[in-house]
Amino acid sequence: MALTPEVTSVLNEQINKEMYSSYLYLTFADYYEDRGLKGFANWYEIQAKEEMDHALAIRRYLLDNDFKPTMEAIAKPDKVFDNDLAPLEAGLEHEEYVTSLIHHCYEVAHSVHDVRTMKFLDWFVAEQGEEETNARDMITNMKLFGCDPKGLYDLDREYQARTYVQSASLNL
Ligand code: FEO
Repeated sequence: MALTPEVTSVLNEQINKEMYSSYLYLTFADYYEDRGLKGFANWYEIQAKEEMDHALAIRRYLLDNDFKPTMEAIAKPDKVFDNDLAPLEAGLEHEEYVTSLIHHCYEVAHSVHDVRTMKFLDWFVAEQGEEETNARDMITNMKLFGCDPKGLYDLDREYQARTYVQSASLNL
């Protein structure tokens, strides 16, 4: 059964949003790199890779369903940060926005009874929940421990330990 134009349109748009997310998180990594906080920079570089994986998974889904996606222009991230908490707060705000986009994709699929796409999007719905939790935890940690140099150093070491693992559930 072919995907409907409503569904292909929102999914094609979501590829662009995920690529923008990747781009945005690279600017967060750049901020922390400049500050000498390589652990935080590492965390966001990995986040950028994950966001690209999300874009590629949606692209693959469209291709596998006989739809040729269009790669649109990616917006330029325009946020400027002046303290170490600001990117973390911007990260939570962005993830909440992406959650709303994923939920919209789901609602569009539901409205045309596209069960296959709803099932495909289940992974993204769960992933967004995890990403919002991570973003909230990072803000809490920064507020609790980031205000003295030793606490910030320990947090940076913790985020340095994050390694990139491609999700086995994503068909890339
Ligand atoms: Fe793939 Fe967290 O947006």
